[in-house]
Amino acid sequence: MKNGSPTLSPLFGAPEIARRVKDMAGVINKKYANESLVAICALKGAFVFFSDLARGIANPNLYLDFIRVASYGADTRSSGKINFCQAAEIDVSGKHVLIVDDIVDSGHSMRFMLDYFRAKNPLSVAAAVLVDKDERREADVEIDFRAFRVSTGFLVGYGMDYAERYRQLPDICELRL
Ligand code: IMP
Ligand code: MG
Repeated sequence: MKNGSPTLSPLFGAPEIARRVKDMAGVINKKYANESLVAICALKGAFVFFSDLARGIANPNLYLDFIRVASYGADTRSSGKINFCQAAEIDVSGKHVLIVDDIVDSGHSMRFMLDYFRAKNPLSVAAAVLVDKDERREADVEIDFRAFRVSTGFLVGYGMDYAERYRQLPDICELRL
């Protein structure tokens, strides 16, 4: 880093993201058809991905809900401590649950969310993530639907942030500090 200015390198552009998200929605449509499905947006990072994915799901029995768990402060690494900032409102018992998150890194956040919803008597619980970043995985998590897989790097854009910035970028970029 020179003079304290971070650099952004585009990794996946908007057209490719749109294709992958549409493909994922197609797979989800096939898997759940018209069965009751609650898609849970893990705020804040998943908000853009969630809105595109949800609009590709044709299921008339789709419910949308929002939760917020946080493990990061203004840092690029998980603290490992997961904090519930906003709880789900829709009763998931007897319904399928799809947890939608931006990126799985250490896996602690997803592990926490999977365990939380599994305890609520759902028909099933699955995870859909925009990016599966596997190099620093610490918790054992199964990712059912993924749009992109990377091994390293800190990514921003398409909802993902660094210290609350860059969420609005239409591309997924790698941030170098
Ligand atoms: P984990 O608990 O370490 O798997 O981290 C999960 C959360 O940390 C994700 O839902 C993101 O919000 C955030 N996160 C992890 N890696 C990145 C990244 O590369 N860019 C932006 N946010 C990230
Ligand atoms: Mg997140």
